[in-house]
Amino acid sequence: MSSASKAAIAEALSEARERTFALVEPLDDAQLNTVYSPILSPLAWDLGHIANFEELWLVQTIGGREPLHGELGRFYDAIENPRRTRGELPILRNEELRSYMADVRERTLDVLEGVEIGPDAEGPLLRDGFVYEMLLAHELQHNETMLQLLQLVDGYELPEAIEVQGDAGLDGAETVAIEAGEYEIGASARGFAYDNERPRHAVELAAFEIDRTPVTNGAYLAYMEETGAEPPLYWGRDGDEWVDTARGRREPIDAGQPVIHVSWEQADGFARWAGKRLPTEFEWEAARPRLDGLGHGWEWTSSDFLAYPGFEAFPYREYSEVFFGDEYKVLRGSSWATHPRVARPSFRNWDLPQRNQIFSGLRCARDA
Ligand SMILES: [Fe+2]
Repeated sequence: MSSASKAAIAEALSEARERTFALVEPLDDAQLNTVYSPILSPLAWDLGHIANFEELWLVQTIGGREPLHGELGRFYDAIENPRRTRGELPILRNEELRSYMADVRERTLDVLEGVEIGPDAEGPLLRDGFVYEMLLAHELQHNETMLQLLQLVDGYELPEAIEVQGDAGLDGAETVAIEAGEYEIGASARGFAYDNERPRHAVELAAFEIDRTPVTNGAYLAYMEETGAEPPLYWGRDGDEWVDTARGRREPIDAGQPVIHVSWEQADGFARWAGKRLPTEFEWEAARPRLDGLGHGWEWTSSDFLAYPGFEAFPYREYSEVFFGDEYKVLRGSSWATHPRVARPSFRNWDLPQRNQIFSGLRCARDA
Protein backbone atom coordinates (compact mmCIF):
# COMPACT_ATOMS: atom_id res chain seq x y z
CA MET A 1 0.00 0.00 0.00
CA SER A 2 1.31 3.41 -0.87
CA SER A 3 2.30 6.04 1.64
CA ALA A 4 -0.82 7.95 0.54
CA SER A 5 -2.95 5.14 1.96
CA LYS A 6 -0.97 5.22 5.19
CA ALA A 7 -1.64 8.92 5.35
CA ALA A 8 -5.35 8.18 4.88
CA ILE A 9 -5.25 5.72 7.77
CA ALA A 10 -3.44 8.19 10.02
CA GLU A 11 -5.98 10.85 9.07
CA ALA A 12 -8.96 8.57 9.76
CA LEU A 13 -7.47 7.54 13.12
CA SER A 14 -7.07 11.16 14.05
CA GLU A 15 -10.62 12.04 12.94
CA ALA A 16 -12.04 9.20 15.03
CA ARG A 17 -10.09 10.43 18.06
CA GLU A 18 -11.35 13.98 17.54
CA ARG A 19 -14.89 12.62 17.52
CA THR A 20 -14.23 10.66 20.72
CA PHE A 21 -12.84 13.74 22.46
CA ALA A 22 -15.66 15.95 21.15
CA LEU A 23 -18.17 13.63 22.84
CA VAL A 24 -16.57 13.96 26.28
CA GLU A 25 -15.41 17.56 25.93
CA PRO A 26 -18.34 19.06 27.94
CA LEU A 27 -17.74 16.66 30.87
CA ASP A 28 -15.42 17.00 33.86
CA ASP A 29 -13.31 14.21 35.34
CA ALA A 30 -15.90 13.40 38.00
CA GLN A 31 -18.52 12.80 35.30
CA LEU A 32 -16.09 10.67 33.27
CA ASN A 33 -15.64 8.43 36.31
CA THR A 34 -19.31 8.24 37.28
CA VAL A 35 -21.19 4.97 36.95
CA TYR A 36 -24.53 6.12 35.54
CA SER A 37 -25.92 2.66 34.86
CA PRO A 38 -24.97 -0.95 35.73
CA ILE A 39 -25.35 -1.88 32.05
CA LEU A 40 -23.06 0.86 30.73
CA SER A 41 -19.38 1.56 31.42
CA PRO A 42 -18.18 4.78 33.00
CA LEU A 43 -16.77 6.91 30.16
CA ALA A 44 -13.25 6.76 31.60
CA TRP A 45 -13.33 2.99 31.06
CA ASP A 46 -14.40 3.40 27.43
CA LEU A 47 -11.62 5.90 26.80
CA GLY A 48 -8.94 3.71 28.38
CA HIS A 49 -10.31 0.63 26.62
CA ILE A 50 -10.22 2.37 23.24
CA ALA A 51 -6.54 3.24 23.78
CA ASN A 52 -5.69 -0.14 25.28
CA PHE A 53 -7.28 -2.03 22.38
CA GLU A 54 -5.26 0.17 20.04
CA GLU A 55 -2.09 -0.58 21.99
CA LEU A 56 -2.82 -4.31 21.99
CA TRP A 57 -3.35 -4.58 18.23
CA LEU A 58 -1.46 -1.73 16.58
CA VAL A 59 1.52 -1.45 18.95
CA GLN A 60 2.02 -4.83 20.64
CA THR A 61 0.70 -7.26 17.98
CA ILE A 62 1.75 -5.37 14.84
CA GLY A 63 4.74 -3.49 16.26
CA GLY A 64 5.97 -6.23 18.59
CA ARG A 65 6.44 -3.76 21.44
CA GLU A 66 5.99 -4.22 25.17
CA PRO A 67 2.88 -2.78 26.86
CA LEU A 68 3.27 0.68 28.39
CA HIS A 69 1.59 -0.26 31.69
CA GLY A 70 2.37 -3.93 32.28
CA GLU A 71 -0.77 -5.80 33.29
CA LEU A 72 -3.14 -2.86 32.84
CA GLY A 73 -4.72 -4.47 29.78
CA ARG A 74 -6.64 -7.02 31.81
CA PHE A 75 -8.82 -4.31 33.37
CA TYR A 76 -9.82 -3.18 29.89
CA ASP A 77 -10.76 -6.65 28.70
CA ALA A 78 -14.47 -6.40 27.90
CA ILE A 79 -15.14 -10.11 28.48
CA GLU A 80 -13.21 -10.36 31.78
CA ASN A 81 -14.86 -7.25 33.20
CA PRO A 82 -18.66 -7.06 32.96
CA ARG A 83 -20.01 -3.51 32.64
CA ARG A 84 -21.42 -3.43 36.18
CA THR A 85 -17.90 -3.95 37.65
CA ARG A 86 -16.04 -1.38 35.57
CA GLY A 87 -16.50 1.58 37.94
CA GLU A 88 -14.39 -0.11 40.63
CA LEU A 89 -11.47 -1.28 38.52
CA PRO A 90 -8.02 0.24 39.02
CA ILE A 91 -8.14 1.85 35.58
CA LEU A 92 -6.37 5.01 34.46
CA ARG A 93 -8.18 8.22 35.23
CA ASN A 94 -7.91 11.95 34.61
CA GLU A 95 -4.47 13.21 33.47
CA GLU A 96 -2.95 9.73 33.51
CA LEU A 97 -5.68 8.52 31.17
CA ARG A 98 -5.17 11.40 28.73
CA SER A 99 -1.41 10.93 28.56
CA TYR A 100 -1.82 7.16 28.05
CA MET A 101 -4.13 7.81 25.08
CA ALA A 102 -1.59 10.23 23.60
CA ASP A 103 1.38 7.89 24.23
CA VAL A 104 -0.35 4.96 22.57
CA ARG A 105 -1.27 7.07 19.56
CA GLU A 106 2.31 8.25 19.15
CA ARG A 107 3.53 4.64 19.10
CA THR A 108 0.74 3.59 16.72
CA LEU A 109 1.82 6.18 14.17
CA ASP A 110 5.43 5.20 14.64
CA VAL A 111 4.66 1.54 13.96
CA LEU A 112 2.47 2.46 10.97
CA GLU A 113 5.47 4.17 9.32
CA GLY A 114 7.35 0.89 9.15
CA VAL A 115 4.69 -1.65 8.13
CA GLU A 116 3.62 -2.94 4.74
CA ILE A 117 -0.19 -2.82 4.44
CA GLY A 118 -0.96 -3.29 0.76
CA PRO A 119 -2.90 -6.11 -0.93
CA ASP A 120 0.30 -8.17 -0.91
CA ALA A 121 1.15 -7.53 2.73
CA GLU A 122 2.04 -10.55 4.82
CA GLY A 123 -0.77 -12.05 6.89
CA PRO A 124 -4.49 -11.28 7.09
CA LEU A 125 -4.11 -8.59 9.77
CA LEU A 126 -2.02 -6.30 7.60
CA ARG A 127 -3.39 -7.25 4.20
CA ASP A 128 -5.42 -4.30 2.88
CA GLY A 129 -4.92 -2.64 6.25
CA PHE A 130 -7.50 -4.89 7.95
CA VAL A 131 -6.27 -4.32 11.49
CA TYR A 132 -6.35 -0.54 11.04
CA GLU A 133 -9.91 -0.68 9.70
CA MET A 134 -10.82 -2.85 12.69
CA LEU A 135 -9.37 -0.33 15.13
CA LEU A 136 -11.17 2.55 13.47
CA ALA A 137 -14.47 0.68 13.58
CA HIS A 138 -13.84 -0.23 17.21
CA GLU A 139 -13.32 3.35 18.32
CA LEU A 140 -16.34 4.58 16.33
CA GLN A 141 -18.54 1.78 17.70
CA HIS A 142 -17.47 2.77 21.22
CA ASN A 143 -18.54 6.31 20.37
CA GLU A 144 -22.03 4.89 19.98
CA THR A 145 -21.97 3.11 23.37
CA MET A 146 -20.63 6.33 24.88
CA LEU A 147 -23.62 8.14 23.35
CA GLN A 148 -25.90 5.57 24.97
CA LEU A 149 -24.46 6.54 28.33
CA LEU A 150 -24.55 10.25 27.53
CA GLN A 151 -28.36 10.02 27.27
CA LEU A 152 -28.23 9.69 31.09
CA VAL A 153 -26.29 12.92 31.62
CA ASP A 154 -28.65 15.80 32.43
CA GLY A 155 -28.05 18.87 30.29
CA TYR A 156 -25.60 17.11 27.97
CA GLU A 157 -25.55 18.73 24.53
CA LEU A 158 -24.49 16.76 21.47
CA PRO A 159 -21.38 18.07 19.74
CA GLU A 160 -21.81 19.51 16.26
CA ALA A 161 -20.07 16.49 14.75
CA ILE A 162 -23.07 14.33 15.68
CA GLU A 163 -26.14 15.09 13.65
CA VAL A 164 -29.47 13.60 14.58
CA GLN A 165 -31.11 13.03 11.26
CA GLY A 166 -34.86 13.31 11.08
CA ASP A 167 -37.34 11.47 8.88
CA ALA A 168 -40.53 13.47 9.02
CA GLY A 169 -43.84 12.09 7.88
CA LEU A 170 -43.25 8.36 7.92
CA ASP A 171 -46.58 6.60 8.12
CA GLY A 172 -45.59 2.94 7.88
CA ALA A 173 -48.52 2.16 5.60
CA GLU A 174 -46.59 1.18 2.49
CA THR A 175 -45.04 -2.24 2.10
CA VAL A 176 -42.50 -3.68 -0.30
CA ALA A 177 -43.12 -7.14 -1.77
CA ILE A 178 -40.05 -9.36 -1.98
CA GLU A 179 -40.19 -12.39 -4.23
CA ALA A 180 -39.36 -15.89 -3.09
CA GLY A 181 -35.91 -16.98 -4.15
CA GLU A 182 -32.28 -17.38 -3.29
CA TYR A 183 -30.53 -14.34 -1.83
CA GLU A 184 -26.84 -13.73 -1.20
CA ILE A 185 -26.32 -12.85 2.46
CA GLY A 186 -23.20 -11.54 4.21
CA ALA A 187 -20.02 -9.71 3.30
CA SER A 188 -17.86 -10.74 0.37
CA ALA A 189 -14.34 -11.97 1.04
CA ARG A 190 -12.69 -8.63 0.12
CA GLY A 191 -12.82 -5.39 2.05
CA PHE A 192 -13.33 -4.84 5.75
CA ALA A 193 -16.07 -6.72 7.58
CA TYR A 194 -16.30 -8.59 10.86
CA ASP A 195 -15.96 -12.36 11.03
CA ASN A 196 -19.68 -12.77 11.90
CA GLU A 197 -20.67 -11.26 8.50
CA ARG A 198 -18.81 -14.03 6.66
CA PRO A 199 -18.78 -16.16 4.69
CA ARG A 200 -21.21 -14.76 2.14
CA HIS A 201 -23.71 -17.48 1.40
CA ALA A 202 -27.01 -18.12 -0.36
CA VAL A 203 -30.22 -18.26 1.66
CA GLU A 204 -33.59 -19.48 0.38
CA LEU A 205 -36.43 -17.11 1.29
CA ALA A 206 -40.19 -17.52 0.89
CA ALA A 207 -42.08 -14.52 -0.52
CA PHE A 208 -42.69 -11.82 2.09
CA GLU A 209 -43.72 -8.20 2.55
CA ILE A 210 -41.81 -5.67 4.58
CA ASP A 211 -42.76 -2.14 5.62
CA ARG A 212 -41.10 0.53 3.52
CA THR A 213 -40.50 2.64 6.64
CA PRO A 214 -39.78 1.98 10.32
CA VAL A 215 -42.50 2.06 12.99
CA THR A 216 -43.13 5.62 14.19
CA ASN A 217 -43.59 7.10 17.65
CA GLY A 218 -47.23 7.75 16.73
CA ALA A 219 -47.89 4.11 15.84
CA TYR A 220 -46.10 2.92 18.97
CA LEU A 221 -48.17 5.31 21.08
CA ALA A 222 -51.39 3.83 19.63
CA TYR A 223 -50.09 0.37 20.61
CA MET A 224 -49.34 1.56 24.16
CA GLU A 225 -52.74 3.14 24.55
CA GLU A 226 -54.59 0.08 23.34
CA THR A 227 -52.61 -2.58 25.19
CA GLY A 228 -51.00 -0.82 28.17
CA ALA A 229 -47.55 -1.76 26.81
CA GLU A 230 -44.49 -0.13 28.39
CA PRO A 231 -43.27 3.13 26.82
CA PRO A 232 -39.85 3.30 25.15
CA LEU A 233 -36.93 4.18 27.44
CA TYR A 234 -36.72 7.93 28.19
CA TRP A 235 -40.39 8.63 27.53
CA GLY A 236 -41.94 10.60 30.37
CA ARG A 237 -45.19 12.47 30.87
CA ASP A 238 -45.95 16.17 31.11
CA GLY A 239 -49.66 16.16 31.85
CA ASP A 240 -51.33 14.44 28.92
CA GLU A 241 -48.33 14.71 26.69
CA TRP A 242 -45.47 12.22 26.22
CA VAL A 243 -42.04 13.85 26.26
CA ASP A 244 -38.50 12.69 25.50
CA THR A 245 -36.48 12.93 28.73
CA ALA A 246 -33.08 11.77 27.40
CA ARG A 247 -30.21 14.07 28.45
CA GLY A 248 -32.54 15.72 30.96
CA ARG A 249 -34.71 17.32 28.27
CA ARG A 250 -38.50 17.37 28.19
CA GLU A 251 -39.20 17.66 24.46
CA PRO A 252 -42.55 16.64 22.97
CA ILE A 253 -42.43 13.29 21.19
CA ASP A 254 -42.67 13.74 17.40
CA ALA A 255 -45.31 11.28 16.20
CA GLY A 256 -43.83 11.12 12.69
CA GLN A 257 -40.32 10.06 13.71
CA PRO A 258 -39.23 6.43 13.94
CA VAL A 259 -39.57 5.07 17.48
CA ILE A 260 -36.27 4.25 19.23
CA HIS A 261 -35.23 2.85 22.61
CA VAL A 262 -37.58 -0.11 22.40
CA SER A 263 -36.45 -3.57 23.48
CA TRP A 264 -36.80 -6.68 21.32
CA GLU A 265 -39.67 -7.72 23.58
CA GLN A 266 -41.44 -4.40 22.98
CA ALA A 267 -40.71 -4.56 19.23
CA ASP A 268 -42.00 -8.12 18.96
CA GLY A 269 -45.12 -7.15 20.95
CA PHE A 270 -45.79 -4.22 18.63
CA ALA A 271 -45.40 -6.33 15.49
CA ARG A 272 -47.85 -8.96 16.77
CA TRP A 273 -50.35 -6.29 17.78
CA ALA A 274 -50.09 -4.83 14.26
CA GLY A 275 -50.90 -8.27 12.81
CA LYS A 276 -47.38 -8.61 11.47
CA ARG A 277 -44.02 -9.94 12.69
CA LEU A 278 -40.40 -8.87 12.87
CA PRO A 279 -38.40 -9.71 9.74
CA THR A 280 -35.63 -12.28 9.97
CA GLU A 281 -32.19 -10.77 9.54
CA PHE A 282 -31.93 -12.44 6.12
CA GLU A 283 -35.22 -10.91 5.01
CA TRP A 284 -33.97 -7.55 6.22
CA GLU A 285 -30.72 -7.86 4.26
CA ALA A 286 -32.49 -9.13 1.13
CA ALA A 287 -34.92 -6.17 1.22
CA ARG A 288 -32.36 -3.58 2.27
CA PRO A 289 -31.86 -1.78 -1.07
CA ARG A 290 -35.59 -0.95 -1.23
CA LEU A 291 -36.17 0.43 2.28
CA ASP A 292 -36.59 4.04 3.43
CA GLY A 293 -36.03 5.62 6.81
CA LEU A 294 -32.74 3.88 7.50
CA GLY A 295 -30.19 5.35 9.86
CA HIS A 296 -32.43 6.69 12.60
CA GLY A 297 -32.50 3.58 14.73
CA TRP A 298 -31.15 0.03 14.60
CA GLU A 299 -33.92 -2.38 13.64
CA TRP A 300 -34.66 -5.50 15.65
CA THR A 301 -35.04 -8.74 13.73
CA SER A 302 -36.53 -12.05 14.85
CA SER A 303 -33.15 -13.79 14.40
CA ASP A 304 -30.89 -15.17 17.10
CA PHE A 305 -27.23 -14.21 16.76
CA LEU A 306 -25.79 -17.33 15.12
CA ALA A 307 -22.71 -18.19 13.06
CA TYR A 308 -23.05 -18.35 9.29
CA PRO A 309 -22.24 -21.76 7.77
CA GLY A 310 -18.45 -22.04 7.52
CA PHE A 311 -17.82 -19.27 10.06
CA GLU A 312 -14.22 -18.78 11.16
CA ALA A 313 -13.35 -16.59 14.13
CA PHE A 314 -11.02 -13.75 13.08
CA PRO A 315 -9.02 -12.11 14.45
CA TYR A 316 -10.19 -13.08 17.95
CA ARG A 317 -12.98 -15.30 19.34
CA GLU A 318 -14.27 -12.66 21.73
CA TYR A 319 -15.61 -10.31 19.06
CA SER A 320 -18.41 -12.61 17.89
CA GLU A 321 -18.06 -16.28 18.64
CA VAL A 322 -18.55 -16.15 22.40
CA PHE A 323 -21.92 -14.38 21.86
CA PHE A 324 -23.38 -16.88 19.38
CA GLY A 325 -26.50 -18.69 20.59
CA ASP A 326 -30.15 -18.05 21.35
CA GLU A 327 -29.50 -15.50 24.09
CA TYR A 328 -28.96 -12.49 21.79
CA LYS A 329 -31.17 -11.05 19.05
CA VAL A 330 -29.76 -9.46 15.88
CA LEU A 331 -30.35 -5.82 14.95
CA ARG A 332 -29.67 -4.50 11.45
CA GLY A 333 -29.12 -1.08 9.93
CA SER A 334 -27.64 1.75 11.97
CA SER A 335 -28.75 4.60 14.23
CA TRP A 336 -28.27 8.36 14.35
CA ALA A 337 -25.31 7.63 16.64
CA THR A 338 -23.58 5.27 14.18
CA HIS A 339 -20.66 6.65 12.19
CA PRO A 340 -21.16 6.04 8.42
CA ARG A 341 -17.90 4.06 8.33
CA VAL A 342 -19.55 1.43 10.54
CA ALA A 343 -22.93 1.19 8.75
CA ARG A 344 -23.15 -1.41 5.97
CA PRO A 345 -25.92 -3.77 4.82
CA SER A 346 -24.18 -6.89 6.13
CA PHE A 347 -23.35 -5.44 9.59
CA ARG A 348 -24.87 -7.46 12.45
CA ASN A 349 -25.47 -5.81 15.81
CA TRP A 350 -26.79 -7.84 18.73
CA ASP A 351 -28.18 -7.36 22.22
CA LEU A 352 -30.30 -9.08 24.86
CA PRO A 353 -34.06 -9.07 24.11
CA GLN A 354 -34.95 -6.99 27.18
CA ARG A 355 -32.44 -4.18 26.48
CA ASN A 356 -33.54 -0.76 25.24
CA GLN A 357 -30.62 1.52 26.11
CA ILE A 358 -29.44 1.07 22.52
CA PHE A 359 -30.89 3.26 19.76
CA SER A 360 -33.21 0.52 18.61
CA GLY A 361 -36.48 0.56 16.70
CA LEU A 362 -38.18 -1.80 14.30
CA ARG A 363 -39.83 -2.36 10.96
CA CYS A 364 -42.55 -4.97 10.46
CA ALA A 365 -42.86 -7.77 7.94
CA ARG A 366 -45.34 -10.51 7.07
CA ASP A 367 -45.60 -13.60 4.92
CA ALA A 368 -46.83 -12.85 1.42
FE1 LIG B 1 -14.42 -2.72 22.72
